[in-house]
Amino acid sequence: MATGKGWTAAAVRVGAHALCWIPALLWLNRIRLGQLGADPVAELTHASGDWALRFLLLCLAMTPLRRVTGHTGPIRYRRMLGLYAFAYASAHFAVYLVLDLGGYWPQIFEDLRKRPYIMVGFAAWLGMLPLALTSTRAAMRALGRRWGQLHRLVYVCGVCAVVHFWWLVKADLREPLLYAGILLILLGARLVSRWTSGRKASHAG
Ligand code: HEM
Repeated sequence: MATGKGWTAAAVRVGAHALCWIPALLWLNRIRLGQLGADPVAELTHASGDWALRFLLLCLAMTPLRRVTGHTGPIRYRRMLGLYAFAYASAHFAVYLVLDLGGYWPQIFEDLRKRPYIMVGFAAWLGMLPLALTSTRAAMRALGRRWGQLHRLVYVCGVCAVVHFWWLVKADLREPLLYAGILLILLGARLVSRWTSGRKASHAG
């Protein structure tokens, strides 16, 4: 039987899922009401790309947050946030393939020549794919130590996603700069904690 603590944890989890769905539901509602402005495809591309990047950074924030707070709580949401990042990135990719290219896929090569930053976005998505596919407990058990090594790919995905955004912005770099700064702090925090735990181990040894 579930305990009081168990019910609270389940309720927090449902609440977290509900929060992650909010951007998608708001955009679906705007589509339903026809409130996407003059360029609906660009609006959807930007919104889905923004949320894919935000969820990816949130996912990357969970490990440093655990270290700072000393609570294991954030780690329980890491996989969930990573999967939402992948879901929003896949929606972003689908908007590009179906709405932007209009199903005229041979045009993709011409588009890649004109907008090479798309390849970096694709690299980020491609990197997220094996991470999403191996996010189950069964895959974790089957891969053993290799699971951790494979999942370091998330750092490359983060860098590719920020480069993709930075590259496509033509004038106002403030937003990509903000995301690049957050990514730098999150990756830097990992380096610092590796360095300090290495020093502790050598002192103990
Ligand atoms: C699957 C391959 C991908 C393709 C084909 C793609 C394509 C695009 C395109 C065409 C744009 C709009 C460019 C413009 O307005 O000129 C865009 C913007 C963007 N993409 Fe991607 N992308 C991909 C993957 C990703 C991934 C994986 C992320 C993040 C995790 C991402 C994040 C963004 C962001 C943040 C923007 C800018 C949104 C804004 O202007 O507010 N993209 N992408």
